[in-house]
Amino acid sequence: MSLAPQELENTASKYASEAIKYDSQGARGMAISHYQHAIDALVKLLQLYPQSKLNQIYKERCNSYHNRINALQQAHGVEPAVDPKASSKDQKASVQRQEAENDFEDLVMKEKPDVTWAQVIGLEDAKSALRESIIYPAKRPDLFPLGWPKGMLLYGPPGTGKTMLAAATANEMDGYFINVDASSMMSKWLGEAEKNVSKLFTMARQYAEKEGKPVILFVDEVDSLLGSRTSEVGGEVRTKNQFLTEMDGVNGKGKDLMLYVIGATNKPWSLDWPFLRRFQKRIYVSLPSQEARQHLFEEYTAPLRKDFKVNPADLAKLFDGYSASDIKDVCQAAQIKTVHEIFNSPDYHEPIEGETPVQPRELTTSDFKNIMTRRKPSVSTEMIRAYHKWSEEFKAL
Ligand SMILES: Nc1ncnc2c1ncn2[C@@H]1O[C@H](COP(=O)(O)OP(=O)(O)OP(=O)(O)O)[C@@H](O)[C@H]1O
Ligand SMILES: [Mg+2]
Repeated sequence: MSLAPQELENTASKYASEAIKYDSQGARGMAISHYQHAIDALVKLLQLYPQSKLNQIYKERCNSYHNRINALQQAHGVEPAVDPKASSKDQKASVQRQEAENDFEDLVMKEKPDVTWAQVIGLEDAKSALRESIIYPAKRPDLFPLGWPKGMLLYGPPGTGKTMLAAATANEMDGYFINVDASSMMSKWLGEAEKNVSKLFTMARQYAEKEGKPVILFVDEVDSLLGSRTSEVGGEVRTKNQFLTEMDGVNGKGKDLMLYVIGATNKPWSLDWPFLRRFQKRIYVSLPSQEARQHLFEEYTAPLRKDFKVNPADLAKLFDGYSASDIKDVCQAAQIKTVHEIFNSPDYHEPIEGETPVQPRELTTSDFKNIMTRRKPSVSTEMIRAYHKWSEEFKAL
């Protein structure tokens, strides 16, 4: 019998969404058997089509279903043949409840990150938009009788500083930073994502109410909440709806609370309008300008030995189209190359006591040119065009 990959994938999706439904209703047995069927279909898919580009996704799904099955089996306790001692069973249950709580805490980071505005190079527009929306209302809420935007979406190519910006915002204000990553939220909380989304917002609200300090709830890779595929494999539809409801709470009755939701994504086009509407500020985090690239080169080559002719402004011109994180990688690669030269030199020897250990040679402009030929920008011009096109329609400052 020949099974088309699409057919097997549909089967897996069907079982998985049934499993999630049972799971959220507390029907553990049914949930487990449906997760298992979904795994079986995915494993078959992996065996029949070992070359498929989607295999990584299938493997990740298998893993998350496996983990969920394990969690369900443990939470239920394996029924022993002999009458169990009630006390030890209770103990076990309480330990597991504790573990579940810790699991939740794992995703949430309440300390301040140690990134400052100054470390985020360029992106002046984005910085001032964030500053205005968070710092001003916190100082003088009386000046905002109509309220102020609570939802902010940072979008743009990878490696441009979205995560850094959110961290710096949290650092610069006296408040709390709750950092969750939506993609791990969906996989780790499989079947429970919906419930946990509301737990998360409740927690954030409690902090904002109790302390009267601003709270930033940062949801990285927020597009994962919507799921990448049409089928509801990760319970995405319900989780997304829960998220939207919670956002309404933040924008509506919690209007005077200093609770902000900052979402980040590099796939803004996968967000739909109901979702976007709740993020009143939509801020484009772009590739660095010539000036920003120069600053980045100054910053990242500062600790390196370099020839006096190495000029950050020239490097910035050469590396047009490279992201901030590309530039960091380029500087690192250049430096590492000089270290390899030390180790590969014919007269390399272990440092001898009393002798100054050999140091890397100075970097030259041609080292950087060399790396450029081997390392393309991580963002293509087509991608940039797509971001611009999306911005024309949806950007909101
Ligand atoms: N504007 C910037 N100024 C200084 N360094 C930056 C900047 N943007 C990125 N970097 C460097 O690149 C690393 C990755 O940046 P960051 O994680 O903020 O990117 P991102 O936009 O969130 O990417 P992704 O979309 O992949 O999550 C940072 O840790 C930092 O070292
Ligand atoms: Mg990021």
